[in-house]
Amino acid sequence: MERKRIMVTGGAGFIGSHLVDALLEKGQTVVVYDNLSGGKKEFLSHCMDDIEFIERDLVTDDDLIGSLKDVDHVYHVAANPDVRVGADDTWVSVEQNIIATYNLLEAMRKVRPDDPPSFSFTSTSTVYGNATVLPTPEDYGPLIPISQYGASKLAAEAIISAFSDNFGIKASVFRFANVVGSRSTHGILFDFYHKLMKDPSRLEILGDGLQRKSYIHVSDCVKGVIHATDDQESPFEYYNVGTRDYVEIKQIPQIVVEAMELDNVEFVYTGGHKGAGWKGDVKFMSLAVDKIISTGWEYDLDSKQTLELAIREIISDLKEV
Ligand SMILES: NC(=O)c1ccc[n+]([C@@H]2O[C@H](COP(=O)([O-])OP(=O)(O)OC[C@H]3O[C@@H](n4cnc5c(N)ncnc54)[C@H](O)[C@@H]3O)[C@@H](O)[C@H]2O)c1
Repeated sequence: MERKRIMVTGGAGFIGSHLVDALLEKGQTVVVYDNLSGGKKEFLSHCMDDIEFIERDLVTDDDLIGSLKDVDHVYHVAANPDVRVGADDTWVSVEQNIIATYNLLEAMRKVRPDDPPSFSFTSTSTVYGNATVLPTPEDYGPLIPISQYGASKLAAEAIISAFSDNFGIKASVFRFANVVGSRSTHGILFDFYHKLMKDPSRLEILGDGLQRKSYIHVSDCVKGVIHATDDQESPFEYYNVGTRDYVEIKQIPQIVVEAMELDNVEFVYTGGHKGAGWKGDVKFMSLAVDKIISTGWEYDLDSKQTLELAIREIISDLKEV
């Protein structure tokens, strides 16, 4: 396989650091670009000697073009991934998810106008909003996001497709289901674990517990992204990345409690926002994944197996701290 110089923005974060591991395993040269706002250098401590680390910010960097020199491919993973924050702060996702993506694409088209780097983008199931078709396929429409986060990712997807067409940037967009696994710094398992560490007798669960969502393990997720990126022939593609199944949210507290070996925990449902966890939360999410599976990738763990493994990994990560 041809050795390439690959940039991973957000490579010090949860998903990004696993992507870095998988790319190094394939023998690629990896440049991590991260401002460490959500990521941690510790996530890369085992491979710091094997990568180039650029600690800069996509929003404020005045030499992004310099960082992109000799880069063949960019996995753009950096973002503010917090869906909840948008109900209070409407700017953060515009800045971190739209402007940061625009700045990166603008630098990419200028660094080598005749041969720009190719591009993979980590988008989200939240671009579909409350879809009326479940599992939701990639060509579902109209796309009506209900969170600032989902809206910002959809806006970024649109900017990417225009840059792809106008400047010959080969690009792919990956719409993830919920991704969990070791090095998580947010998400339902992380939240439940921390709440139970504070009070092992009671667990508050956002929403009515009847939400249905699909989960994918981070190792399956990054394998899918790399596989589909390597396989891509057309100039622009988008893929859902998830599992074929889903779990009901009320199944998850029991999985966490068992992994933490707790007994007699009272589960308290908040009712949330129209039964969903919070304003902007999509209550029912499951993705049609036939398209990415047709590229030859398959996941190892279904949603429940994913959650069971991920909570054990999170517990073990946090014990090591
Ligand atoms: N975790 C999930 O369940 C999930 C689901 C769907 C989509 N995604 C997407 O996957 C990607 C990774 O998410 P994650 O869960 O690993 O989050 P994360 O917060 O762990 O990773 C994001 C990384 O980007 C970096 N970053 C943020 N803003 C930056 C900036 N302006 N300049 C440089 N670096 C910056 C952070 O420091 C962090 O290391 C995000 O794009 C997110 O929207 C995640």
